Amino acid sequence: MALFLLSTAGLLLSANAQPAPSVQAGITAAIKNAANATGPLDYTAFVNPFIGTDNFGDVCPGASIPFGMVKFSTDLTGYAPAGYVTDPTQFIRGLSPLHDSGTGSSLGTYGNFEIMPLLCPNGFDTCTTSLAARQRKRKRNTDVASPGYFSQTMDNNIKMEATATRRAGLERFTFPSGSKPYFVLDLANDLPNSFAGGVMNIDPTAGQITIGGMWGSSFGPGRFNYQAFACYDLLDGGAQTLSEYGVWTADTFGLDAKGLGQTHLNLSINLIGGVYQSGALFSFDNTPEQVNIRVGVSFVSAEQACANSASEVGSSTFEEIQAAAKALWNEKLSKIEIDVPNTPPNVTEMLYSSLYRASLTPNNATDETQGVFAGTTSFYFDSLYCSWDTFRTFYPLMSLHSPVEFAQIVDNYIDGWRKNGWMPECRANNLPGWTQGGSSADVIVGHFATHYHNEAAALGIDLEELYAAAWTDSNVNPPGKVEHRRTTIQCLQVASSVMCPSLSWMFPAREDKREKEAGLWRCYAFEDFAIRQIAQVLGKTDDVATFTNRSLSYRNVWDPTVVSDGFHGFMQKRYSNGKFNNTDPKDCSPVSNLTECSLQSDNIYGFYESSSWEYSWFAPHDTAHLIELMGGNATFVKRLNHFFSAGYYGAGNEPSFQTPIGYHYANHPAQSVDRVRSVVFENFDITPAGLPGNDDQAAMATLLSFHLLGLYPVPSTTQYLILSPFTPQYTIHNSYLNVSTTVTTVGYDKRSIQKTIPAGTAAYVANVTINGVPAASRCHFDFYDVFRVGGNVTIELTADKTAADDCLGGLPESVSTGGFASAR
Ligand SMILES: *[C@@H]1O[C@H](CO)[C@@H](O)[C@H](O)[C@H]1NC(C)=O
Ligand SMILES: *[C@@H]1O[C@H](CO)[C@@H](O)[C@H](O)[C@H]1NC(C)=O
Ligand SMILES: *[C@@H]1O[C@H](CO)[C@@H](O)[C@H](O)[C@H]1NC(C)=O
Ligand SMILES: *[C@@H]1O[C@H](CO)[C@@H](O)[C@H](O)[C@H]1NC(C)=O
Ligand SMILES: *[C@@H]1O[C@H](CO)[C@@H](O)[C@H](O)[C@H]1NC(C)=O
Ligand SMILES: *[C@@H]1O[C@H](CO)[C@@H](O)[C@H](O)[C@H]1NC(C)=O
Ligand SMILES: *[C@@H]1O[C@H](CO)[C@@H](O)[C@H](O)[C@H]1NC(C)=O
Ligand SMILES: *[C@@H]1O[C@H](CO)[C@@H](O)[C@H](O)[C@H]1NC(C)=O
Ligand SMILES: *[C@@H]1O[C@H](CO)[C@@H](O)[C@H](O)[C@H]1NC(C)=O
Ligand SMILES: *[C@@H]1O[C@H](CO)[C@@H](O)[C@H](O)[C@H]1NC(C)=O
Ligand SMILES: *[C@@H]1O[C@H](CO)[C@@H](O)[C@H](O)[C@H]1NC(C)=O
Repeated sequence: MALFLLSTAGLLLSANAQPAPSVQAGITAAIKNAANATGPLDYTAFVNPFIGTDNFGDVCPGASIPFGMVKFSTDLTGYAPAGYVTDPTQFIRGLSPLHDSGTGSSLGTYGNFEIMPLLCPNGFDTCTTSLAARQRKRKRNTDVASPGYFSQTMDNNIKMEATATRRAGLERFTFPSGSKPYFVLDLANDLPNSFAGGVMNIDPTAGQITIGGMWGSSFGPGRFNYQAFACYDLLDGGAQTLSEYGVWTADTFGLDAKGLGQTHLNLSINLIGGVYQSGALFSFDNTPEQVNIRVGVSFVSAEQACANSASEVGSSTFEEIQAAAKALWNEKLSKIEIDVPNTPPNVTEMLYSSLYRASLTPNNATDETQGVFAGTTSFYFDSLYCSWDTFRTFYPLMSLHSPVEFAQIVDNYIDGWRKNGWMPECRANNLPGWTQGGSSADVIVGHFATHYHNEAAALGIDLEELYAAAWTDSNVNPPGKVEHRRTTIQCLQVASSVMCPSLSWMFPAREDKREKEAGLWRCYAFEDFAIRQIAQVLGKTDDVATFTNRSLSYRNVWDPTVVSDGFHGFMQKRYSNGKFNNTDPKDCSPVSNLTECSLQSDNIYGFYESSSWEYSWFAPHDTAHLIELMGGNATFVKRLNHFFSAGYYGAGNEPSFQTPIGYHYANHPAQSVDRVRSVVFENFDITPAGLPGNDDQAAMATLLSFHLLGLYPVPSTTQYLILSPFTPQYTIHNSYLNVSTTVTTVGYDKRSIQKTIPAGTAAYVANVTINGVPAASRCHFDFYDVFRVGGNVTIELTADKTAADDCLGGLPESVSTGGFASAR
């Protein structure tokens, strides 16, 4: 997901940034104090969970542990896919445990089981329970969040706080003194308004409310529903006593009924049709200032939801759970340590906030499976939303330090093949989501296989099975299914320049449409390269030849006759008779006025969330040949410069992720360094509006992390492109391999850390040494020589840009020039 959205809206809103000023003040102080720290640093103190909560970043700042299944956040009105947004004109509808982060779903995702604290001075029957009646504005600039903690205060001075375990958490509500605490708990509503029936039971003796129901996907075919369950424990281990309890029912036409003493609801959405609102309403005896509520969630059953909160939270206090969550976060964040005192504070904050989000999703729903995955013995992750977003930077960053977690997610992808026949391309709300770029899962598992084939068995991955799953993606058509990946059989026909048939299997209702073929097709070629890489690891020589061949088929949608702004040759839609159907390469670029560029039925431009100008750069495995197609190194560089200056580059769009480093392939690495500096400072910062669009399950966060570390991964290969780090030193710890790699930026000059590197400032890579040995190239190195073995890398910088603007013999690899010739 990556949508072109109006960036001006973000600028207007950021003037009203909602996080309490104490959030940034605390981070600034923590970074400053790191200079004098004794003992291990508290990396959570550098994290700003609000980055990306404005300007359509769609980041969830809610309380979560790493890869938590629950993320407690408030849900706001208006466009708020992750629940929370900073926009102060929006209203809070409640606090809820299930959220995704960074997704661009138009209606939002999850937000089920909202609880809303109320003041009902005139008693039970007068409580404002419906969505419209209960919503309230926040108390301005009081929102607070840190890893494992979320808090928001409303304009009636009720404060809501939450902290989390994997499938449960604690909520703490502070009421104005002297008021009787009331709560409404919602059975039906979620953010996308997808309720499809459910049940609620109040057990007043146990002080427990259970909810279970069915809801629909936020990004996928509407014919599927998922089940979810919650368990609310209201008595705080006996410290609180229920007063009144009952149910309520409301609709948007004025119905507002309360049933004092009733304990059961069983709703079918078809009962009345439309938006039906219902839930529990309860109060507590006396006027306790604080109310603690324990929440468990499950995708299996209400009993399991209660068991989850009992086992994960038990009788622990809010502070204990918060401290445990914080410790888990420090363990993750410390996988990459930088020289904090000598790094510009904004870089430290951007990096650790990005690393935080890099472990926020996907949501670990192991042992919480349903549908065909029910009872699976594999690991299971929800919200693979979508693989097209995450294959480029998210999993490559994980591969440097967390093979165990990576293997668990790979296991989950392979299990998708076992249970569904194909690996998931997109999974939203436990349901198959829309296919974006074919089968990017191939690249993800391919990246794992290239990096960890020696350890795969020990990590629980059968490489033959992994290969079979990827091979299936490329060779077996999912018949008439919208939720499973590409069909390469169709692609192959394109590959032999014969056919580019309709992709109608993706859009059964729109069989006449031939949308986004060229963009998809580019993905197929790269996905086939990933399968080739796995075949190479496994020594399957024939398959290596076949898939290498297929990986070059991106050339078949290259139309050399198309000219745009004086540049020749663009990727274009092509039909089964071999004829191109040309569209303007600027269509669907940031400068075009077109809006039907995503899954819309009237997207006739041949590209998905991208333009031909943008996608024509995409052949990460064979850029050397792309340079030839474009007319040679000089034209390629001129065309790159034009791409950026003409505004065709979409910083927030995944197909553009690698483009700023394209200069490396034309032997101009210093120009990549300049470009990455300007990309970072023009598009990212430490404010809520500090992302150039959807975080896309941390695709954007991990791109920024690589930029700041001066690295860029070539997915499904072990090659990493070298740039100029924004920090004088960093260490990446791989606790599975038991190795640590320290990269030192010799000659680092803080003054170079800005949009335009001032002339005469050391910032360009002069030479690279790996454990004392000069590297063969100053443009790239290999995982097996660096992060696999650990040790010391030095990147020595120079101010002499001209001298540094040459890889000195070692261009990054391309298939057509003999690159990627053997597996490491
Ligand atoms: C760190 O310690 C030095 C020496 O004691 C002192 O001058 C400096 O102000 C301290 N810095 C901070 C941020 O506390
Ligand atoms: C809810 O109502 C439906 C339809 O009347 C019924 O089939 C179902 O068993 C009920 N569920 C519970 C838990 O009472
Ligand atoms: C996911 O949860 C399972 C079950 O608790 C656990 O074993 C696994 O380590 C978790 N994985 C991640 C990446 O959090
Ligand atoms: C590569 O593809 C071409 C057609 O596109 C075909 O003629 C050739 O046999 C293929 N080679 C291999 C090794 O599959
Ligand atoms: C969109 O741009 C095209 C080409 O620049 C122009 O012809 C058309 O009038 C524009 N449409 C709108 C609605 O602005
Ligand atoms: C090219 O595609 C457009 C949009 O799908 C369609 O209207 C037009 O008929 C096509 N032209 C040819 C020559 O197929
Ligand atoms: C681009 O430059 C490199 C390095 O100088 C050279 O090897 C390559 O052949 C050039 N490519 C083209 C298409 O001229
Ligand atoms: C740090 O970020 C803030 C907020 O974006 C900005 O105002 C400030 O100029 C930045 N500082 C530096 C040194 O870049
Ligand atoms: C890493 O160290 C741990 C603890 O010393 C050990 O159990 C494990 O086998 C080591 N892993 C590797 C890959 O050497
Ligand atoms: C590395 O680059 C620096 C800066 O240009 C230079 O002083 C040094 O001699 C170089 N070292 C090697 C081994 O080339
Ligand atoms: C890396 O450098 C550190 C500090 O200079 C040194 O202690 C260590 O032995 C070096 N490691 C390797 C593998 O060279």
